[in-house]
Amino acid sequence: MNIVNIEDFCQAARRRLPRLVFDYIDGGADGEITLRENVRAFEDISFHPRSAVNTPAPDLGTTVLGTPISLPIILAPVSASRMFWPRGEAVAAGAAGEAGTIYCLSTLSGMRLEEVKAAARGPVWYQLYLCGGRDIAAESVQRAKDSGYSALVVTIDTVVTGMRERDSRNGSKEVIARRLWPMLPYLPQILSRPSWLLGFLADGGMMKLPNVMLADGPMPYADVAVTLAQSAVTWDDLKWIRRIWDRPIVVKGIQIADDARRAVDAGAEGIVVSNHGGRQLDSVWPTIRILPEVVKAVGGQIEILVDGGIRRGADVVKALCLGAKAVLIGRAYAYGLGAAGARGVRQSLEILRTDVHRTMKLLGCPSVRDLNASYVSRDRW
Ligand SMILES: Cc1cc2nc3c(=O)[nH]c(=O)nc-3n(C[C@H](O)[C@H](O)[C@H](O)COP(=O)(O)O)c2cc1C
Repeated sequence: MNIVNIEDFCQAARRRLPRLVFDYIDGGADGEITLRENVRAFEDISFHPRSAVNTPAPDLGTTVLGTPISLPIILAPVSASRMFWPRGEAVAAGAAGEAGTIYCLSTLSGMRLEEVKAAARGPVWYQLYLCGGRDIAAESVQRAKDSGYSALVVTIDTVVTGMRERDSRNGSKEVIARRLWPMLPYLPQILSRPSWLLGFLADGGMMKLPNVMLADGPMPYADVAVTLAQSAVTWDDLKWIRRIWDRPIVVKGIQIADDARRAVDAGAEGIVVSNHGGRQLDSVWPTIRILPEVVKAVGGQIEILVDGGIRRGADVVKALCLGAKAVLIGRAYAYGLGAAGARGVRQSLEILRTDVHRTMKLLGCPSVRDLNASYVSRDRW
């Protein structure tokens, strides 16, 4: 298939992956209102280009928390990437580094954080959930420090896992529990994707979570929902995390200006305005709509990143115009990973890079660091 944009990769992933894996990536919480709005809200922003300006080679490079990156797009933490493609986390980290940007590894990954760091060709961040409690988390934080992760991303919007209706309908719980009878009705969707299945089995089958080392070994994937509900991060935990991690901290999941101020007070160096890609609380505002008020509240004191709904280079440029230093993408690379592994992630990033480059030229703006609110207007907010 001729892949032209991220939506094409979405369709390619749909064809290669069993429905329950594809929907795990693609789906959102409850009625998926926020999932749709995250994407749609970018349509409410229009550009105001400067014409007759020659910008032959717009500079896409910027610096995030002191780390130079060659395009303002970071790979967001995406759990269970090993289910999308063999050794998925290492594959994505490698492709991010090749593209000159940062990969952020989820706590809920199927690969050891040390292996992912070794496979990465660029800087890597570690996203922290307090699964198993503080002592268990402290061990993984120490491992992340020892192996050279340069920032810790603390996700604060997961006090309980959102209700992903597609996962329930596809029998995710039954399949992950691997009890034959309950799982039988859901097997045809898996057997109908033999090339995925062969790769999955050759890669060790159902993974465990080797970055959450419990007393009896790595946490089973089946325990994620219960464990997350028992280990919600609070502002108190952030103070504790600040004491055990001396490199930059990024608080992910900010949705109101007050919480952005609290993150500054907690000693974070960065925040991600994020609603978890519409996978947690449904009916919250799309993130791009919240960004300006967060920038107004804490801009200049802390680096502000945003994620949610970014599917085109123009979306990246709009987010930067509204004050983000860079963006994170989740699905926009996860589809590529699920469709074609390293090649898919590479090509997804290349599509976005080319989009950003062309948009900058058409805007008449020489550098992503020069983007500001004068290049856009918000039409319907
Ligand atoms: C399949 C999937 C798994 C995710 N897992 C995590 C995770 O483990 N930790 C986390 O902080 N965010 C997680 N997220 C949220 C992303 O980091 C990011 O906030 C979101 O995907 C951004 O929206 P987008 O997919 O529209 O780009 C996940 C998202 C997806 C799609």
